[in-house]
Amino acid sequence: MASVRRAVILAAGLGTRMLPATKSVAKEMLPIVDRPIIQYAVEEAAAAGIEEIVMVLAPDRGAIREHFGGGSHTEAIARARGNAALVERVVAPERLAKFTFVEQREPLGTGHAVQQARAHLKGEPFALLFPDDIILGAAPCTAQLVGTYEGCGAAAVIAVQQVSAAQIPQYGIVDPEAPGNPARLRGIVEKPAASGAPSDLGVVGRYVLGPSIFDQIEKLEPGAGGELQLTDAIAGQIAAGEPVYACRFEGRRYDAGRPAGAIAAAVAAALDREELRTDLLAHLTTLMPREQ
Ligand code: G1P
Repeated sequence: MASVRRAVILAAGLGTRMLPATKSVAKEMLPIVDRPIIQYAVEEAAAAGIEEIVMVLAPDRGAIREHFGGGSHTEAIARARGNAALVERVVAPERLAKFTFVEQREPLGTGHAVQQARAHLKGEPFALLFPDDIILGAAPCTAQLVGTYEGCGAAAVIAVQQVSAAQIPQYGIVDPEAPGNPARLRGIVEKPAASGAPSDLGVVGRYVLGPSIFDQIEKLEPGAGGELQLTDAIAGQIAAGEPVYACRFEGRRYDAGRPAGAIAAAVAAALDREELRTDLLAHLTTLMPREQ
């Protein structure tokens, strides 16, 4: 049996970068092609063998519960009309895993958000996904991290990718002991200034975490932005001598929490779909500026 059977998905951010679309709709429910942003993370976890997903939600995220729960109005109509194909499409999200929902009542940081899921994780390792990060590619990023976690006997594995100097202050940045992939870490820091950063490898919103992370979360003091930062809890694991690795994953990552990233993710996800690809490519070609 796989060692990592559960995942935590955080959906408790305010989505201010996508206002006004996120004034009444959770940013995780904005569509990329024909599914909400959060469904990409759920599908990635399910493809990695995850069976149970704990979602940490802000208090007003009823639409996310409904999306991964049963009994919608559309389902009732589809059943009444005997439209089995439509029923299948409506119930597809709830069949991806077993879902549990917990609330983070105040936005006190990623460390605090993960703590809300603790009681449902039964002391076992778990995958953690930030749904804003959409990662496309043949091998699910979460599956790559689980492979590293098992192969290295790690206490934590973190997905990283190279970021530009200008982007460094937006990311957790890792400090690898040596080049190579995966790389054991001697440190990790949340959103440093580019001048003092230990590397240019930024943390992407995918992790596999062993249960010792909660010993460190309990000790957290407010960090960057005055919040209880998961990055600081991982730094605590490293300081305690535990083996923590960064994994440069294969895949294309988009920050769907920002307008430009959401548009790029939508175009990329649509081009991956056979039935959309030809027409979309033809349309994009008409938008290309002509050479002088
Ligand atoms: C969070 C993490 C940060 C990570 C980033 C990836 O920051 O705190 O370490 O690099 O996600 O998306 P946020 O984007 O929530 O500010």
